[in-house]
Amino acid sequence: MSDNVPRTIAAPLLKWYDAHARDLPWRARPGANAPDPYRVWLSEVMLQQTQVASVIPYFEKFTARWPSFEALAAAEDAELMAAWAGLGYYARARNLLACARAVAARGSLPETEAELLGLPGIGGYTAAAIAAIAFGQRAVVVDANVERVVTRLFAVTAPLPGARPRIRTLTDSITPDARAGDFAQAMMDLGSTLCTARAPRCLACPLREQCDGFATGAPEMFPVKAAKPAKPQRYGTMFWIERAGRVLLVRRPAKGLLGGMCALPTGPWADSPPGLADAPISAEWRMLDEQVRHGFTHFNLDVALAAATIPEHTDAPQGEWWPIAEIESAGLPTLFAKAARTFGRMHA
Ligand code: ADE
Repeated sequence: MSDNVPRTIAAPLLKWYDAHARDLPWRARPGANAPDPYRVWLSEVMLQQTQVASVIPYFEKFTARWPSFEALAAAEDAELMAAWAGLGYYARARNLLACARAVAARGSLPETEAELLGLPGIGGYTAAAIAAIAFGQRAVVVDANVERVVTRLFAVTAPLPGARPRIRTLTDSITPDARAGDFAQAMMDLGSTLCTARAPRCLACPLREQCDGFATGAPEMFPVKAAKPAKPQRYGTMFWIERAGRVLLVRRPAKGLLGGMCALPTGPWADSPPGLADAPISAEWRMLDEQVRHGFTHFNLDVALAAATIPEHTDAPQGEWWPIAEIESAGLPTLFAKAARTFGRMHA
C-alpha cells in the first residue's frame, strides 16, 4: 500500500483498545471521567526510557505519598531523590520536583503542548502525551512502541534515527481528531502486547490487513536501525568507609551523572582503573575480589570496591554516617545499591 493511500487505522485500533486496553494505574477507569492530569504527568515522566512493569510500583508509592502537585511541590529534595532511587535517569527526579513546584505556583498543569513544553522535564514526547491523554487534545505521540508499529504499518526501510521525521509525519497521518489520548495509548499497547520487537503476533492484530510490514512476510525487520558505535568502557573505585557500625554516604553534585543522589564516595570515572588514586582519606584499604558492572546509556562502567574501617573518633570527609544494618533504606541508586550489597557480604 503506498503512503498516499489513506488508511483506516484509528477505528479498528480503538475498537481493539476498548476490548484489550491494559489496566494501568494512571489510566481513567472505564466509565470514569477524564484521568487526573497529575497522575498522567507523573506516569509519563516515569515512563520516559523505563518499562511499564518497572514504573508501576514507583507510581503507586509516589501517588500514595504525594497525591497531588501541591503535595509533591512540598517534598524535600533529598526525600524525593531517595524515593526515586532505583528508577534511573535521575535528572528526571530533579526536573519532576522543579515541575511540580512550577505547576503548584501557577495553579494547574497547562493543557496545550506548547505551554507544557515550557515546563522542566517535559520534552516533545511528554508534552504530546499529556496533551492527548490528560486533556483530549489532538497531538502526535511517538514513543519507541509507536515507532515500531508505524515503521511496520508503512514498511519504512529508512533506518532510525534518521527516519524519525518521516515516522512523525506518518503517525500524524493516522492520528484521529477524537480520542487522541486513547489512540496514543492504543498504539503503545499494541506495540507492547502484539507488535512486539522480536516475535510479533500478527494473527491477533487488528491492523494486519493494512500493514505493509505484515505483507513483506518479515515484520520483525522493522524498525531498521543504524548500527550503533560500541559503548566506551569507563572505570572507577567506590569507597566503603566504616566507623562504629556506620558507613559514610555522600551526596553527588547536583549536575551530572546520578546528580543529587545519595552515594558512596568515588572519584571521577576514568579511562583506566584508578585504583586508590581518588581515595577520600588515607586508610588501610582492602580491595574486594568482586567488582560491580553497570551499563549507562553512553558507557559501560566497571567499579572496583575498596573498604576500610576507621577508629570511632577519626576525622573523615563530609557526609552522613548511615547505619550499615539499614543500608537498604538509604535511597542509593542501583549502581551503589549493588555495591553496598557486595560490601554487605563482607560482613556475612
Ligand atoms: N508508555 C509511555 N506512556 C504510556 C502509557 N500512557 N501507557 C502505556 N505505556 C506507556
